[in-house]
Amino acid sequence: MPDRPRIVLGMASSIDGKITTRERPKLRYGSDEDRRRLEARRVAADAVLIGKGQLVSDDPPLLVRSPECRQRRLSERGPEGIHPVNCVVTSRLDLDISSFEFFNHAETRRVVFTTGAAPAHALALARRHATVEVVGAAADGRVDLQSVVRRMGELGWSFVTLEGGGTLNFAMLQAGLVDEIQLTLCPFVFGGGGGVPTSIDGDGFPKEAIRKLQLASCETSATGEAFLRYLVEPAPAAIEPAATFSKAFRVR
Ligand SMILES: NC(=O)c1ccc[n+]([C@@H]2O[C@H](COP(=O)([O-])OP(=O)(O)OC[C@H]3O[C@@H](n4cnc5c(N)ncnc54)[C@H](OP(=O)(O)O)[C@@H]3O)[C@@H](O)[C@H]2O)c1
Repeated sequence: MPDRPRIVLGMASSIDGKITTRERPKLRYGSDEDRRRLEARRVAADAVLIGKGQLVSDDPPLLVRSPECRQRRLSERGPEGIHPVNCVVTSRLDLDISSFEFFNHAETRRVVFTTGAAPAHALALARRHATVEVVGAAADGRVDLQSVVRRMGELGWSFVTLEGGGTLNFAMLQAGLVDEIQLTLCPFVFGGGGGVPTSIDGDGFPKEAIRKLQLASCETSATGEAFLRYLVEPAPAAIEPAATFSKAFRVR
């Protein structure tokens, strides 16, 4: 897609890939260094994108907090640009926008990407709190992510960070719209099976569509975290069938 923004997925997870526990509490398990890296992505970004699930569970205004970073954004982008534009995707706008801190923060600009399935009264209410972009729907009725990203390009955005949750992260990867993944592996095990959210959820890829990544950098810190940067390769991975693998590594 020409002129679309570069999109970096930034997440922190336990070493077993979980982003919260079964009860889905709002947890802060990343260190200050992880927070600094998140902030660095936001400082460089035109916009931050999240899904409705993340909005409903955490209600997070997506802010630049450190005084130095705020000052830098202020001087480069003016008072309206202290924070990257806060964006959310929701297909039918079936939530009370006015009740969220995300939509009431004094300093942020908000954009809601939704579809023609959103009712008129919900659109009108949302427009009091945000710019509403009505884009096409995909075959499953959800927001067509290609249209979202195309619209971001038309808005002149060149760098967007994707901050979850796992359902949207998967859908963006599946649509081929993620260029890089910056993952902080935190030194915890949350455990649990299907009901516990991971950094990339959704239905999962069939084996012929598994995404291949290229390690760009790996740093560790005294906090026990690993900061991994991966570039997403354009074509799906070709992974050898298990039979070939076990033959090569058979224990005698
Ligand atoms: N630790 C971390 O770094 C971190 C970061 C982020 C989130 N989280 C956790 O992740 C959880 C939320 O994640 P989640 O997976 O439940 O929800 P999510 O990915 O935030 O949002 C998914 C929702 O987005 C909407 N959507 C619209 N178009 C879509 C499309 N094309 N593809 C996918 N989604 C689309 C759908 O709602 P509609 O029905 O309205 O379309 C869908 O249900 C929370 O528990 C939160 O605490 C943790």
